[in-house]
Amino acid sequence: MALYSEKVMDHFTNPRNVGIIENADGVGEVGNAVCGDIMKIYLKIKDGVIEDVKFKTFGCGSAIASSSMATELIKGKPLSQALELTNKAVAEALDGLPAHKMHCSVLAEEAIRAAIKDYYDKNGIEYDKAQFPEPKDGHEHPVEEV
Ligand code: FES
Repeated sequence: MALYSEKVMDHFTNPRNVGIIENADGVGEVGNAVCGDIMKIYLKIKDGVIEDVKFKTFGCGSAIASSSMATELIKGKPLSQALELTNKAVAEALDGLPAHKMHCSVLAEEAIRAAIKDYYDKNGIEYDKAQFPEPKDGHEHPVEEV
């Protein structure tokens, strides 16, 4: 069996929603301290719905495929639904990732959450802090720009 599914290869070679949103309503950037990969997500939000989303990922193929799939999964969705997106759901939508590449999908979950938190913070919107746990082991919020 091939190491990567056709969907992973498709989203890696033809990633959706690549780019930057100028004047984004929320921006989230996370990195993995072990591999050094970085993911940045930009959100345009209207009436609690994600109108547009773009990403820039400096990382491995699985991280790029995860970013692409994750942005497709949250586009047009309410923030509440985007907050529920797990890395497992991203990996499942890609028809699976090798076990040692699951951490790449974690970046997508965390970057989306960080972007939504940024939007809440910028707009003084109250939120349940428990919904925004610190990044999982091996992850950190890098300070450098991508
Ligand atoms: Fe770093 Fe995939 S190896 S995110």
